[in-house]
Amino acid sequence: MRRSLTRALAACTVLLVLTGCAADEQADEAEVARGGELYDRHCAACHGGATGGQISDIPPPHNAEGHTWHHADCDLVDMTLHGMPPREGFPAMPAFENELTEDEVEAILAHIKTWWEPDQREHQAEVTEQVCD
Ligand code: HEC
Repeated sequence: MRRSLTRALAACTVLLVLTGCAADEQADEAEVARGGELYDRHCAACHGGATGGQISDIPPPHNAEGHTWHHADCDLVDMTLHGMPPREGFPAMPAFENELTEDEVEAILAHIKTWWEPDQREHQAEVTEQVCD
């Protein structure tokens, strides 16, 4: 009796963990999709899409060819919300603080990250860990 109860409990725990993981995955997918819509509306015209461009382009591509993956999450959010001043001969990066929330910028980043190579994602996660709170 006790044994079957233990077994049932163990089975339940496994199930809970599995459904929990599935829920996380769905949440991630929804965030990436939301980020994709926002990216297309606000960023794609200047920064391009999933492929193409090169590291020296201004505005830089956010895909695997660019340098976005060199920067930590908190810096990318900051640059997006507050913009960057124009540099000689180049247009400015506009500030989005009146158009997008921090959550929305994070969804955009989640979308951009799907374009990177696994080692770029890994590197950027380490940089984020070192730089951001
Ligand atoms: C009007 C054109 C324009 C739009 C629209 C735009 N950007 Fe930019 N962005 C730029 C330019 C130009 C730079 C380069 C600035 C520099 O190097 O001084 C830049 C740079 C950046 C950078 C820093 C460089 C890097 O590592 O990639 C980030 C991050 C960035 N943009 C994110 C975004 C996001 C996210 C959006 C959409 C919400 C967006 N930008 C929309 C023009 C734009």
